[in-house]
Amino acid sequence: MLKLLATKPIETILDESSETGEHTLKRSLGALNLISLGIGAVIGTGIFVLTGPAAALYAGPAVVYSFVVAAVACVFAGLCYAEFAAMIPVAGSAYTYGYATLGEIFAWIIGWDLVLEYAFGAATVCSGWSGYVLSLLQDFHIRLPPAIAGTPGSVFVYWNGHWELLNRVATKLAELGIDPATLPHKYGVFNLIAFIGIMVTTMILVIGIKESANFNNVIVAVKLIVLVIFLVIGAHTLMVQPNLLKLNWHPFLPPNTGTFGHFGISGVIRGAGVIFFAYIGFDAVSTAAQEAKNPKRDMPIGILGSLVICTILYILVAGVLTGLVNYHALDVPDSLAVGIDATGVKWGSLLVKLGALGGLSSTMVVMLLGQSRVFFSMSKDGLVPEFFSSVHPKFRTPWISSITVGLVVATFASLIPLNELGEMTSIGTLLAFIIVCSGVWVLRRRRPDIVRPFRAPWVPITPILGIAVSLLMMLFLPLLTWIRLFIWLVAGLAIYFFYSRHRSKVQIELKEAQQ
Ligand code: ALA
Repeated sequence: MLKLLATKPIETILDESSETGEHTLKRSLGALNLISLGIGAVIGTGIFVLTGPAAALYAGPAVVYSFVVAAVACVFAGLCYAEFAAMIPVAGSAYTYGYATLGEIFAWIIGWDLVLEYAFGAATVCSGWSGYVLSLLQDFHIRLPPAIAGTPGSVFVYWNGHWELLNRVATKLAELGIDPATLPHKYGVFNLIAFIGIMVTTMILVIGIKESANFNNVIVAVKLIVLVIFLVIGAHTLMVQPNLLKLNWHPFLPPNTGTFGHFGISGVIRGAGVIFFAYIGFDAVSTAAQEAKNPKRDMPIGILGSLVICTILYILVAGVLTGLVNYHALDVPDSLAVGIDATGVKWGSLLVKLGALGGLSSTMVVMLLGQSRVFFSMSKDGLVPEFFSSVHPKFRTPWISSITVGLVVATFASLIPLNELGEMTSIGTLLAFIIVCSGVWVLRRRRPDIVRPFRAPWVPITPILGIAVSLLMMLFLPLLTWIRLFIWLVAGLAIYFFYSRHRSKVQIELKEAQQ
């Protein structure tokens, strides 16, 4: 009889993680590298793309509060991640924590669920990235044919002598009194830029973690500088034109329109569900634990440090953006560029677009890195095929895993619209948070003896609050997203029962012990 709740002993996990040699991952990352990895994963499509629409459609200037609500969930979950990552510093993150605490079936569910976070997350970010690439190309009068400029179903209209994405010009058309239905239409088929973006990132990952980390450090610096410049220029404009704030921040919390989730308090919470995407990624630091020089000390620093820095920046950027531009005008794919345009600083828009391009590319690196590392761990345990843990003899990276993941993610990014990818990422990540928070609580009771270099404070209150706030945000996501999550999990369980449990090393050892 196979045991679905078999756990993998923590001692075994720690032994495996301290193995060294040609077929193991290189330990080359220090605390600063890890914070940088975290910021690299966190600051991306969320702040550069989703802030504007979340303010325009759900929360108004009170999107600032949405950032606070989402940050609260992330802090509680972050403390739980930090406890686990310091205690079990291995590449598998939440998957490995689940294996050690809740049992194999839960570990499988988490591993499968993490595909939503990392693979769909990378696809979402790349989708946002391709939007900024197209916008920048357009500034230089380069336009791709609609068929290769958007995902299937995206609508382009012929206006002003060229094809434009309808969403991008809808406000302008409305202002001019032009009915888009009267303009010629074409549809997107394949987002070529998104496909290329993921494949190039994959090549960088195959070449190596050290190179990837250096590449990441440079780009993180670029995007931090761009956000700070946005803040400085924006705040200066608001100081010399205080009437802007009076105009755009009143009312700060627009009253509910009568529809649940459209402004008012419910809008703030729905906004938090959307904006939550902006925080995803700090937990990706934990997937690099096996490549950290001193994981016990540096894991908590990496996770919590990146979270605190990003929270402060987000709140400031959201406040300044909604002060500069009325929230009604922010439902655009490049809202920060629109914000800087409002300051009248001519070079600002180009700078923000370039910063977004660099910024989003580092987010893609960490997301793809996280995915191939989770598969690496699952493969070592026998739950997914062996080739996922084959390490390149020269580059010492899980290259086959990276390339397989890259191809699948590139296909998602080029065929599925950004908002659908983003919602799947959010629901998957929130579920992973809930399982990790539960795991910390369970393990404190079952194995109080294990050395915990970092202890989450106020257990079980911290994990309970982490679970509660995550669940609240999940409940605000659309029903269709829940249905997709359900289908995804059922498909995963089918794979587990037909394939994984028969090849699981833990199960095989259990069987041998019984004979
Ligand atoms: N937090 C990351 C982003 O906003 C995933 O792009």
